[in-house]
Amino acid sequence: MFGAGYIGLVTGACLAELGHQVVLRDITPEKIRMLHAGEVPIFEPGLGDLLAANKERLSFTIDAAEAVRDADVVYVCVDTPPTASGDADLSRVWAVVDSLKGVSSERLAVLVMKSTVPVGTGDRVRAAMDEAGLANVGYAANPEFTAEGKAVHTFLHPDRVVIGAAEAEAARLVTALHEGVDGPVEVMEVADAEMVKLASNALLATKISFINEIATVCEATGADVEAVAKAVGMDHRLGPHFLKAGLGYGGSCFPKDSRALRVMARPELTRRS
Ligand SMILES: NC(=O)c1ccc[n+]([C@@H]2O[C@H](COP(=O)([O-])OP(=O)(O)OC[C@H]3O[C@@H](n4cnc5c(N)ncnc54)[C@H](O)[C@@H]3O)[C@@H](O)[C@H]2O)c1
Repeated sequence: MFGAGYIGLVTGACLAELGHQVVLRDITPEKIRMLHAGEVPIFEPGLGDLLAANKERLSFTIDAAEAVRDADVVYVCVDTPPTASGDADLSRVWAVVDSLKGVSSERLAVLVMKSTVPVGTGDRVRAAMDEAGLANVGYAANPEFTAEGKAVHTFLHPDRVVIGAAEAEAARLVTALHEGVDGPVEVMEVADAEMVKLASNALLATKISFINEIATVCEATGADVEAVAKAVGMDHRLGPHFLKAGLGYGGSCFPKDSRALRVMARPELTRRS
């Protein structure tokens, strides 16, 4: 697991809970020191218990070679913050591919992208892997849909697990890793999986913004937005979730992922002649 941040820690702890041997690698020595000491660098309900219960199957390191030595699968869980233009900064993803050069073992069968990345990144990573001497390693996208505060439960009981794979063997391996997870697995092409993540967050952000706009009209017209949202949400085609008027959307993912989608949807790319 490259990246022992929020997503890497939850994913690593949950995969260990499913019975897998997991090595978490981070470039921040303080995080690795804390994990060695049995401390949890972030607050997430249930995570501390899960790390403690599975400590025999978990190890922590800052050394890329040590992390990869016995790995069948390498997960990329590094941060992909927005650049000034709104596009995702993939420099940490490229750093992971670089760090695999020369340390990759015979066992390594697939590199899995958990980080949120623009559509088309899989092709670029595939080319970079080929150039780095990792042509024999498969590639898969396995985006994360979790919400902070419910991440452990969401991992083990997801609405769906999305796996985009370039090769059938990569799809099979990543599907097998999720054996024991209580939710359906959807296997698709890499670009489809990359887009599912961005489209899902864009739709959730749209629902939040939409009900806030309706709240403004309610206020101007004397309607009660809570009564309106409740009855709107009872329509099964619309659903009750994300229809709570209040502050606009925020957090670490919605603003960055919708800006990244907007960059991809710019007219010069999507205009049909
Ligand atoms: N946090 C969420 O709720 C959430 C939800 C869905 C998807 N995501 C996506 O998951 C990805 C990770 O997000 P996060 O919240 O865990 O970020 P984070 O900042 O909490 O963690 C990233 C970690 O990666 C480490 N790192 C950076 N470069 C590294 C390298 N070369 N090798 C090893 N470790 C390295 C950092 O030190 C950090 O600890 C992002 O792409 C994010 O968009 C996050």
